[in-house]
Amino acid sequence: MLLNFVKNVRLSMMSKTNENLLKAAQGEAFARLKYMAFAQKALEEGYPEIAQLFEEAAGAETVHGITHLQAMGFVKSTLENLQDAVYGEQDEIDEMYPSMIAEAESENPKNKDTALKAFKVAMAREKAHKRMFKRALRKLQKQLDAK
Ligand SMILES: [Fe+2]
Ligand SMILES: [Fe+2]
Repeated sequence: MLLNFVKNVRLSMMSKTNENLLKAAQGEAFARLKYMAFAQKALEEGYPEIAQLFEEAAGAETVHGITHLQAMGFVKSTLENLQDAVYGEQDEIDEMYPSMIAEAESENPKNKDTALKAFKVAMAREKAHKRMFKRALRKLQKQLDAK
């Protein structure tokens, strides 16, 4: 995953510090995801106050992760960000999910069915995301060209 991310960043020369900022951002992103999933579970089990704790922490992790991305120069102009988004979604569609699906098929783990479903549902959505970003990119490009 780190590799895909780095490809998206297209930093030819990554300093150790930027590598660490990237790792830290990924860690914060995972923490956010985890806390949101835990909040959902807490709600299901009837603990709304605990759900709120998880959601508050998730919000803070998001801020930390964004700060890391900004510090490494990851966030650029909206035009460049749209290009990055198209590239990232495309990579998930072409490389990441297909290879994960193939590996789940050949490994045949106990949770194969749920894993395959998770991969396939996400991959289908990435296609919609890619189209959405591509459309926005073309539109913005035209707007900027007209200026
Ligand atoms: Fe954090
Ligand atoms: Fe996506």
